[in-house]
Amino acid sequence: MNLTNKLYVVTGAAADSDIGLAICKKLDECGAKLILVGRREAALIETKRQLTQQHHQIAAFDLSHLEDIQSWVKSLINQFGAIDGLVHSASYQGYSPLRTISPKQISQYLDVNFSAAVLLIAAFSKAKHFNSGASFVFIGSAAGQRGLKARTLYAASKAALSSMVQSAALELANKKIRVNCVAPAVVSGAKAELQFSALGEQQSQILVDAHPLGLSSPQDVANSVYFLLSGLSANTTGITLAVDGGFLAG
Ligand SMILES: NC(=O)c1ccc[n+]([C@@H]2O[C@H](COP(=O)([O-])OP(=O)(O)OC[C@H]3O[C@@H](n4cnc5c(N)ncnc54)[C@H](OP(=O)(O)O)[C@@H]3O)[C@@H](O)[C@H]2O)c1
Repeated sequence: MNLTNKLYVVTGAAADSDIGLAICKKLDECGAKLILVGRREAALIETKRQLTQQHHQIAAFDLSHLEDIQSWVKSLINQFGAIDGLVHSASYQGYSPLRTISPKQISQYLDVNFSAAVLLIAAFSKAKHFNSGASFVFIGSAAGQRGLKARTLYAASKAALSSMVQSAALELANKKIRVNCVAPAVVSGAKAELQFSALGEQQSQILVDAHPLGLSSPQDVANSVYFLLSGLSANTTGITLAVDGGFLAG
């Protein structure tokens, strides 16, 4: 399936992201035009440099500025035209043992992972902001599908995202907009390496062994995003697709 002349917004598109960069590379390969979003312009310029097509745009923006999302989306549409889809990969990640939780921390997780997602879908699904057959994909997490120690806030923010996708899919079906979520477990890359060095050898091995097919790669996640954006999934909406090496099966 070719995505030539389709326009997608990708958040979390920094060159030093594991999954965001892989998604951008996959969509670029398929001929799509991208609007690359993140806070650091330099990291987006580096992503653009690594893509093969020249037609991508950069839109540096802090998605935790929730009050500004609606007007920012309007300005993107005015500049670049209606979109064919959105991939919301930006997130606030980390550990939050219950003894350390503060109200500010709760907002940090929920603002980017959930509230920004809701405001993005609300703004991009307005009339004239999307093209026929638009598809919105949110990057959730296997953490949102089962309990994980010390990850209360991250896991809950991703569970909220999966729930939002179901309700939004119902509400937007009459506009023929599809809304889905991709939920990776541990993905190989810099984040996994950090996690392993914090856990130590024995705990890391237990975590790896919890993925019967092995860890997913960023490209595995990008392939599923591509599937959900493309016509290959034309009748699929409201799902959370696990890309988890079997992590959730056990
Ligand atoms: N890596 C994994 O093992 C794993 C597993 C399961 C799920 N996931 C999910 O997969 C997605 C991508 O993961 P990743 O590891 O590639 O993420 P990542 O490396 O943390 O990249 C996310 C990007 O989001 C951008 N971002 C963060 N806060 C932002 C904000 N307030 N406004 C705009 N942009 C912001 C950051 O760029 P700037 O700093 O430039 O803003 C960052 O580079 C996330 O949703 C994550 O929760 C990852």
